[in-house]
Amino acid sequence: AAQTVQMTVQPGDPKVQVSKHIYGHFAEHLGRCVYDGFWVDEKLNVPKQGRIRMDIVEALRKIKVPNLRWPGGCFADTYHWHDGVGPTAQRPNMLNMWWGNNLEDNSFGTHEFLELCKLLGTEPYLAANVGSGTVQEMAGWMEYLNSNSNTPLVMERRKNGHPEPYGVSWWGIGNESWGCGGNMTADYYTDVYKRYATFAHNYPGSPPLKKIVSGANGDDANWTETCMKKIPLNMMWGLTLHQYTLPTGSWTGSKGKATGFSEQEYFNTMRNCLRMEAIVTKHSAIMDKYDPQKKVALLVDEWGVWTDVEPGTNPGFLFQQNSLRDALVAGTTLNIFNNHAERVRGANLAQAVNVLQALVLTDKERMLLTPTYHVFDLYQVHQDAQLLPLQFTSPEYVMGAEKIPALNASASKDKNGVVHISLVNLDTQKSQKLETALAGVNWKSVSGRILTSPKVNDYNTFEKPNTVKLASFNGAKKRGEKLAVEIPPQSVVVLELK
Ligand code: AHR
Repeated sequence: AAQTVQMTVQPGDPKVQVSKHIYGHFAEHLGRCVYDGFWVDEKLNVPKQGRIRMDIVEALRKIKVPNLRWPGGCFADTYHWHDGVGPTAQRPNMLNMWWGNNLEDNSFGTHEFLELCKLLGTEPYLAANVGSGTVQEMAGWMEYLNSNSNTPLVMERRKNGHPEPYGVSWWGIGNESWGCGGNMTADYYTDVYKRYATFAHNYPGSPPLKKIVSGANGDDANWTETCMKKIPLNMMWGLTLHQYTLPTGSWTGSKGKATGFSEQEYFNTMRNCLRMEAIVTKHSAIMDKYDPQKKVALLVDEWGVWTDVEPGTNPGFLFQQNSLRDALVAGTTLNIFNNHAERVRGANLAQAVNVLQALVLTDKERMLLTPTYHVFDLYQVHQDAQLLPLQFTSPEYVMGAEKIPALNASASKDKNGVVHISLVNLDTQKSQKLETALAGVNWKSVSGRILTSPKVNDYNTFEKPNTVKLASFNGAKKRGEKLAVEIPPQSVVVLELK
């Protein structure tokens, strides 16, 4: 019989919260994320406000999106914001050089994005063009959005229909500046960053800017070290990190299929996904050296599964299906972020709609919620709740000569004292028995929800949109003062104790 895992839920530190911003999302002008995703043809027969697709908005409101990053990604360093304001018919076309060489008509611009954020009830997170733009262009965007003085840019904003300043405070200064954002060295970028940040002004009446440094690629310690050493702490609010999970682990050749993969491929994907723990730990340790008080947030503002595109789709559109495996990656990654809440205070899944590890897929009028969406639904209870650290030794999930921890988890206590524990069992065969002691928690009953499916490569289609769906979970009991749980194979479970 399987051994019972002994887990303890620690009281934690009331000052350490799981920032809701860990649950952020990302909408790039890429493939069908914005155009034919959030922003549709006037003639498409779906509920719309203007051209914003409201069935998507409604689905995302349910999972509470704390922030939305836009307009890229790589696209951001080619984007000229001024092309996307003013009367739509007068906006110039541009070529989306990064993503499929698509002709972009700029009909979705700053005002449309901020309208979308308002409908979603979310914080806008803008990425300024550092790679091919100018300091003046970025500073002008900030003035246009946040100032209330009678400058030409502010008067233009008013004329374009928004009399009051928008007060946008989240600003990424560049994106992947080591790659598509300009192929800079870390040394060079830090100088560029300081130059841009100097002219990123606060305006009276608008919230102070949260200036965000374009951070490392995966485990590139030198990038983080250089940024932390050379940029004064009071010049940055956050520093980013991009880390994707590729099933094959390789950027060249096949990245692996999104569906129809073997258990070995599933295992490899989870092994690659679990690298996030070591990577976040490594960057956090470097940041601790220069910023022991943890003033600067680490934002993993691009993460998720990146597979080969669906056969027959444009390779530049990064459209991929989403299976139970994606849900297990999401549950695992969010547990890692929660457990690093002291330093990781933001993250953005790539991307919200029709691109990479999407929450929502659409096909003309049809829309489906992916297994990943359901994980964000389950985990929303952690947003802004107090982190409760966990102690346990995970059983192993063994595949040939390799093994990974089968079980991962995180826990938090919300403002009403309700405790939530999210548990992920990666093993495809074995369930995991848990006995949990909770120090200082007053609780009478436990309930839960589960996401699982008979096959780890099951997924939702437009014909069968509910193959992988949430169900209530009855496998947790109160036994004396302890919590006894049996977590089924390949599942994500979130328990509520109150
Ligand atoms: O999310 C897709 C792309 O991945 C982004 O544009 C870029 O920043 C990253 O390389």
